[in-house]
Amino acid sequence: MASTFVMYVTICLVFGFLSSPIAQAGDPDIITDFVIPANATLDGSSFTFTGTRNLYATEPPPTFTVTKIGMKEFPALNGQSVSMAVLDYPAGSVNPPHTHPRSAELLFVIEGSLDVGFIDTTNMLFTQTLQPGDLFIFPKGLVHFQYNKNTTELATAISAFGSANAGTVSVPMSVFTTGIDDAILAESFKTDVATIQKIKAGLAPNPKA
Ligand SMILES: *[C@@H]1O[C@H](CO)[C@@H](O)[C@H](O)[C@H]1NC(C)=O
Ligand SMILES: *[C@@H]1O[C@H](CO)[C@@H](O)[C@H](O)[C@H]1NC(C)=O
Repeated sequence: MASTFVMYVTICLVFGFLSSPIAQAGDPDIITDFVIPANATLDGSSFTFTGTRNLYATEPPPTFTVTKIGMKEFPALNGQSVSMAVLDYPAGSVNPPHTHPRSAELLFVIEGSLDVGFIDTTNMLFTQTLQPGDLFIFPKGLVHFQYNKNTTELATAISAFGSANAGTVSVPMSVFTTGIDDAILAESFKTDVATIQKIKAGLAPNPKA
């Protein structure tokens, strides 16, 4: 009798776990080998991305720049649960606090030095200074940033994501450029409307807004 009950509880726990969000922490699985746009030629080129080939043929960008290689840019990533980004940080530039709702980020520093950090859900801040060859993991969904504090040298990094479409929510952009009422922001940030308007004026409009 007791052993039947234990088995029943075990089965409930196993099935409960399998159907819980924890068991589905990545992109949904596909039931074909790959997903290629219907009108595309199916050969090696379907699985090749050359959009980054000439990334360093010109001068490095003057402002912080992210070159995303997700399923929008590279359709064959659809269903493969991976994507990348190339990050260029001119001297003194910052990648402002942001999150990726659908993936952790594994950052690899190629050149220069980066001060990085993330904040967990208890508001604990974790920071590190990275040099070329170092890797840092930003856990999925947590707010994080990178800063090149060097005043003369650029920094370059490559990030890998465990989603074909990791998504980015920029904290300054989502909070201050999407039309949230000044009074609501002033109350939320315990400041006045003039200060909120000053912050809003300093941020370029969100191209997606
Ligand atoms: C396939 O169709 C899409 C959407 O209509 C278009 O953007 C793309 O250029 C097409 N690709 C080819 C290889 O014809
Ligand atoms: C900037 O980087 C260069 C090269 O690594 C280093 O020699 C210099 O001390 C750094 N400057 C600052 C302000 O960190």
